[in-house]
Amino acid sequence: MDDIDKLRGDLTQAIAAADTLDALDGVRVSALGKKGAITQAMKGLGAMDPEDRREAGQTINALKSEISDAIEARKADLSTAELDARLMAEKVDVSLPARPETEGSIHPISQVIDEMTAIFCEMGFTVAEGPDIEEDWYNFTALNIPPEHPARQEHDTFYLPGETDGHRKLLRTHTSPVQIHTMQDTKPPIRIIVPGRTYRCDYDATHSPMFHQIEGLVVDETINMGHLKGCLIDFCRTMFDMDDLPVRFRPSYFPFTEPSAEVDIGCTKKDGELRIGAGDDWLEILGSGMVNPRVLENCGIDSTKYQGFAFGMGVERIAMLKYGIPDLRTFFESDLRWLRHYGFKSLEVPGMVGGLSR
Ligand code: PHE
Repeated sequence: MDDIDKLRGDLTQAIAAADTLDALDGVRVSALGKKGAITQAMKGLGAMDPEDRREAGQTINALKSEISDAIEARKADLSTAELDARLMAEKVDVSLPARPETEGSIHPISQVIDEMTAIFCEMGFTVAEGPDIEEDWYNFTALNIPPEHPARQEHDTFYLPGETDGHRKLLRTHTSPVQIHTMQDTKPPIRIIVPGRTYRCDYDATHSPMFHQIEGLVVDETINMGHLKGCLIDFCRTMFDMDDLPVRFRPSYFPFTEPSAEVDIGCTKKDGELRIGAGDDWLEILGSGMVNPRVLENCGIDSTKYQGFAFGMGVERIAMLKYGIPDLRTFFESDLRWLRHYGFKSLEVPGMVGGLSR
């Protein structure tokens, strides 16, 4: 019994003295492990006579649970202390400045599409969209460009692999097919603009295989060339923010409009520099015309009752002119330095309504 008391004293002291979880585990092994003191004492019971064994057994069992409890209690204390120490050491300094956020910017293409959309929406246009992959009918035939028409050659079309009947889909070469979808699906009056991607097999400083256009279409009973001119003159002057910007309509040809006109704005070219505004030179910026009656009929619209005008322009070209961007290819290179230089802060984007100076 004295041995047991001594063992209790030693172990209790060792537990109190253990100042880390590792040291405490050492004490546990020395007492309760396979070769630990208490385990050994249990084994010793077998050699005792039954009378002594009962009493000694109870004492050792009591010691075993007493020591186990003491170890558990000490373990809980040490864990809390260790956690406290770690929290102290890893303390977060909430007064440190926040890590700077890298700010994105609006791509000039998105900016210019938003600006143009805002201008036309204030005039009462709504935005329409159509598929990038088109049927030949929508991109060409319905627009009065039949299979042998020379205008097909000018479009450098990307065709998709042929289908079994030899019929091939294509990537739209302009946004004009959305005129056809709209006229097939809705009755006049129609007043839409169509911003979107277009594709032509061409690549140099002024051509990219993918580029953007904005199309416009107005169809109603009394629409005439005066409406076309007024709408586009207002658009050009608002877009370039110049009340006296000269705008010229030059006779041209498109199969889907008759008569057709290309629209030029005034500029000056001096020493390789281009200035937009009243000057001695002209810059072509868009194509337009009165919707060819054949196109109206192709869409099931009575051309004796309805007339319309349409226009189409390249978004990149307008962006290059307005913001002095010299090379078209840079629009699609995703060069961060270029984007930081030519991009727009999101707050500078005018809303769909308002945000414009007029
Ligand atoms: N679709 C023509 C083009 O891509 C532009 C245009 C549209 C011309 C509508 C007249 C009317 O060149």
